[in-house]
Amino acid sequence: MSDGLEGVVTAETVLSSVDGAAGRLVIRGRSLDEIAGRMSFEAVVRLLFEGFFADLPEESGLRRRLGAARAEVFRDIAALDRRLTTLTDIESLRAYTARFADGDDLDTALRLLAAPAVFTPAMVRVRRGLQPLAPDPTLGQAADTLRMLTGGAANAGRAAALDTYLVTVCDHGLAASTFAARIVASTRAGLTSAVLAGLSGLKGPLHGGAPGPVIAMLDAIGSSERAEGWMTAALARGERLMGFGHRIYRVRDPRADALKAALKRLDGGDPARLALAETVERTALALLHARRPERRLDTNVEFYTALLLEALGFPPDAFTNVFAMGRTAGWIAHAREQLATGRLIRPEARYVGPTPRAA
Ligand code: ACO
Repeated sequence: MSDGLEGVVTAETVLSSVDGAAGRLVIRGRSLDEIAGRMSFEAVVRLLFEGFFADLPEESGLRRRLGAARAEVFRDIAALDRRLTTLTDIESLRAYTARFADGDDLDTALRLLAAPAVFTPAMVRVRRGLQPLAPDPTLGQAADTLRMLTGGAANAGRAAALDTYLVTVCDHGLAASTFAARIVASTRAGLTSAVLAGLSGLKGPLHGGAPGPVIAMLDAIGSSERAEGWMTAALARGERLMGFGHRIYRVRDPRADALKAALKRLDGGDPARLALAETVERTALALLHARRPERRLDTNVEFYTALLLEALGFPPDAFTNVFAMGRTAGWIAHAREQLATGRLIRPEARYVGPTPRAA
């Protein structure tokens, strides 16, 4: 038995490969640096979906249909249940998504991809006492999301930064959320159910729930001189430093560098915030190394996710939703691949409970 299924191969996939020793991520035959900042989110969605939907259009057609799906989702949001605002953003996105019918077709897939892009800015605006803004179906998903968030057209640099983020997190092997999505897909429940499983898996702080707490940590540390003392005390209390460590990577997560580069390219970024983050990162790595020299713990994707999404104007509570905006593409592709090539996933557990007394 392998605790946490570490090292256990449970599927063959053409979608992505994570080389933890080399710090390399490949998405459908392309390394991360070939696609992040170079291909649009829509182009990468097409790359992931290719072969899994018979009626998949070319990139421009897909962009139009995704824009139309955003418009459809927005019509639904007009009747938003305001009680959703009492939940966290990821809980409310999950509750909203659960209202979609199940299906295995491209329309269902595009509605699921559009949902976090429309719902997240709408929810942020409602919480701020503002009206949700309708999507502009002619824009790409990243530019439109920022426009719906801020109310003004996003400048090209900011839209490109969010595009880079969505591409960077679109798929990542059998992460816990992706495995959950594949398990549900293997029962033939449908794409909505698979995506809901993914959202639930992503929510946890050991997975996609970490970037919000990264901001809380940076705010609590406040200044570079306090970094070592604050983190030493947190580790002494048995806490984990958010944004560090990974099940697969034994070197730096390549996504951290892709996102740090996107952050640095962003005009209007806050140099003092970046300087604090770099000190916190350096100090955290030194402290983690001193505690566990035999287990290399390095920076993961969530550390620079937090800084990039903060710089783009998303509140920390919404960070996991933005992660979901990118990763839904991967969940859908994995769900379709599971249906095409896999069987019902049904492992076994070794029973270690009490034995019944003989009658
Ligand atoms: N801070 C402090 N200690 C850590 C950290 C950390 N960030 N990460 C791992 N450790 C310690 C653990 O406490 C454990 O110590 P122990 O053996 O004395 O109990 C040891 O390193 C090994 O940790 P595991 O739990 O076996 O590592 P695992 O592979 O299960 O976990 C995980 C990986 C969940 C990412 C972990 O490193 C962690 O909790 N990191 C902080 C949360 C985080 O950044 N999550 C986002 C991950 S990226 C993503 O999912 C998109």
